[in-house]
Amino acid sequence: MSKILRSLLFVPADSEKKLAKAGDRGADALLIDMEDSVLPDRKSTGRELCAEFLKTTGTASQIWVRVNPLDSKYVLEDLEAIIPLEPAGIMLPKPDGPVDIETLSRHIERLERKHDLPEGNIKILPVATETARAVMSLNLYARTYLPRLIGLTWGAEDLATDLGALTNKDNTGNFAFTYQMVRSQTLLAAKAAGVQAIDTLYDDFRDQDGLRARATAAFTEGFTGMLAIHPAQVEIINQSFTPTQTQIHHAKAVIQAFADNSGAGAVSVNGKMTDIPHLKQAQNTLALYESYKD
Ligand code: COA
Ligand code: MG
Repeated sequence: MSKILRSLLFVPADSEKKLAKAGDRGADALLIDMEDSVLPDRKSTGRELCAEFLKTTGTASQIWVRVNPLDSKYVLEDLEAIIPLEPAGIMLPKPDGPVDIETLSRHIERLERKHDLPEGNIKILPVATETARAVMSLNLYARTYLPRLIGLTWGAEDLATDLGALTNKDNTGNFAFTYQMVRSQTLLAAKAAGVQAIDTLYDDFRDQDGLRARATAAFTEGFTGMLAIHPAQVEIINQSFTPTQTQIHHAKAVIQAFADNSGAGAVSVNGKMTDIPHLKQAQNTLALYESYKD
């Protein structure tokens, strides 16, 4: 199984300053962005700096690259420049569904062959909800053979544009119903496809308490990671997506209760009925915790 990515930090590809220390920020993955954070007249500079970064930077973070969308005039040049340098993966913005992941896979495969690289190492993470068509295709991920797909993430900004919306927020400042629904659909589609569910970014990057609340809630719902836009968000996200000592303690108590009552399908833990789904949850929590230990 692919390593679970808790924090994925966007870094604009054309910013030498932000690239310089990006590798030391503790993110499980860096997302070097050649798309929306790079203006058209900076695209080639961004591509060059991104290539330079892949060639020269030693970091414990996986290095991913967000290329431009498949229907843009930049994407083939992006891939030609980046794939030979073997990034951990490609983030694809604005796909209309799994069919676009198949197209990207073919481009990657062609370049892997051309450059004598092992086939299949370079993974794909789509931003799976940026168009209405994409949302309507989410259920197809579970039924399409996509061996490079490691996860699904979602975005509310481009979707709002595609829907002709004036905002994606309701009058309390939370995501409006449509975007909450799309978020849940992404979680379900990722789990149905057996890949990582990665929550969207929290744009108010100075609000650390708000981020922690959002990330903690996402983890308890089943998301395994989250996008970040600022280095100060990384540690909070890593912590929020790692099981807490209380969760570990509870998981161990559930497993112990079943061990102490062999043959029982339901047991009592702290006065609450606990059955097989809870046992599986407890085992999942411990497995996740163990996977982050080293
Ligand atoms: N990656 C790496 N370094 C970053 C960073 C990022 N995403 N965001 C900020 N930094 C660095 C700054 O360069 C600065 O470094 P320094 O201490 O060496 O001077 C430090 O972190 C503090 O930055 P700060 O002043 O708080 O933020 P800012 O005003 O410079 O930048 C943003 C704010 C939002 C423009 C910036 O965080 C950013 O570019 N985020 C990513 C945007 C992006 O990629 N969007 C596309 C996906 S939606
Ligand atoms: Mg965008």
